[in-house]
Amino acid sequence: MNPLRDTRDARLPRVAGPCAVVLFGVTGDLARKKIMPAIYDLANRGLLPPGFGLVGFARREWADEDFAQEVHDSVREHARTPFREEVWRQLSQGIRFVAGDLADPQAFDRLRETVHSLDAERGTLGNHAFYLSIPPGLFPTVVSQIQQAGLAKKPPGAWRRVVIEKPFGHNLASAEELDRVLADVFAPDEIFRIDHYLGKETVQNILAVRFANEMFEPLWNSRYVDNIQITQAEDIGIGGRAGYYDGIGAARDVIQNHLLQLLALTAMDEPLSFDPRQVRQEKEKVLAAVTVPRDIDLHTARGQYATGWQGGVPVFGYLEEPGIPADSTTETFAAIRVDIDNRRWAGVPFYLRTGKRLGRRVTEVAVVFKRAPHLPFASTSVQELSDNALVFRIQPDEGITLRFGSKVPGVSAMEVRDVTMDFQYGDSFVDTSPEAYERLILDVLLGDPPLFPQAREVDLSWRILDPVLDRWSESGRPATYASGGWGPASAYEMIARDGRTWRRP
Ligand code: BG6
Repeated sequence: MNPLRDTRDARLPRVAGPCAVVLFGVTGDLARKKIMPAIYDLANRGLLPPGFGLVGFARREWADEDFAQEVHDSVREHARTPFREEVWRQLSQGIRFVAGDLADPQAFDRLRETVHSLDAERGTLGNHAFYLSIPPGLFPTVVSQIQQAGLAKKPPGAWRRVVIEKPFGHNLASAEELDRVLADVFAPDEIFRIDHYLGKETVQNILAVRFANEMFEPLWNSRYVDNIQITQAEDIGIGGRAGYYDGIGAARDVIQNHLLQLLALTAMDEPLSFDPRQVRQEKEKVLAAVTVPRDIDLHTARGQYATGWQGGVPVFGYLEEPGIPADSTTETFAAIRVDIDNRRWAGVPFYLRTGKRLGRRVTEVAVVFKRAPHLPFASTSVQELSDNALVFRIQPDEGITLRFGSKVPGVSAMEVRDVTMDFQYGDSFVDTSPEAYERLILDVLLGDPPLFPQAREVDLSWRILDPVLDRWSESGRPATYASGGWGPASAYEMIARDGRTWRRP
């Protein structure tokens, strides 16, 4: 029996060609929890070639074996597929480590020698992906070191790619500067910006549902849609990520990338085809049409979680978290209303919200429809009726919910109440979805770009957010909100001003 039977995913049939991944930031959380386990899971699913190498680079006095042990530990703890000795043995033979400082040219000379010898020993054929899982302030240093060490020069027939993690800049100006730094060394099709939401099966399904069916698209406009609410909520705090999070905050961390990408997929027009250029063009068009209301204070909200209780356990407030300055003004909750100035969406507000230490972990896109123009029932019969809604449940309970009114069974007067129709991934498909990082890393190695935002999408997203961030930077400390709740009072007030309420996910 094939030992991979349970773990192989039929939706990931493509196998990467010979190549090496050079990973900067190997001691970081992301590398340990996501990147290294995803590489192992790909190997375990048979999607990496025998000629595969993984080179770690860090300021540690490690030998190859020490780094291999680190990878091993992270795989044992975080991989999604079962640990198999023979897969690990094969993978670990291609593991190398280069000790050095990111600013030290000699360390990059050693890196060059390492990848060259890996090419010879493992047959990685000069195909190299540089994965920058490091603070963005270090991107320029590393990119220029890669160039100066001659690591960006590829032999004929080989490829070079660079992978970067958000935040892609701090605002539009710094994002454009980052674009220039990258463009000096890499061609646009060699740059892979990771937005892990685009690697999620449920996010890709937004386009499938919209464009593979006939029954949704006719309703997908201002004639039938009242508003769209996009929520990414977490019940956890910032954990050990003070160094990354403070000064960035919820809007830059999540709205600028994940939520605006969800908005683009929900609101864009149908692309001519699923060719990456066509999809990108439609996303860019809709992002370019997004506007933020002029009175930012009335249509946005931000907050910081307060000391309190969550799930019966005492929790720190943001300002008490280790490593956070007592006077930090960084927001851990952000909500904004945006509009889309085009024929399809004129007059339909899009509400985006995200936060830490909220009621529960949930991400969803809710398309809320208008009320029926006329209800031929007595008002008492439809009292409890809410708006029709189509909800893409991105996570954790992956699926789609349709909410509509239905007659309550019985012989008494006509009474109509909300009911839901549910699609659950687990009920319809037997394969488990690959983790977003598996899909995205494989796409990098295959050179398959549709799931990676390009520079212009990133810049357009900053153009949307910059006025909000500028305004917030002038308005002092955010209000606090209770841990385990749904954000500060201002979040309820901003949507109430429009005569609407937030959905309770
Ligand atoms: C990351 C943010 O991009 O997304 C984190 O930096 C956040 O702050 C995370 O926790 C959420 O990802 P997911 O896939 O758990 O929704």
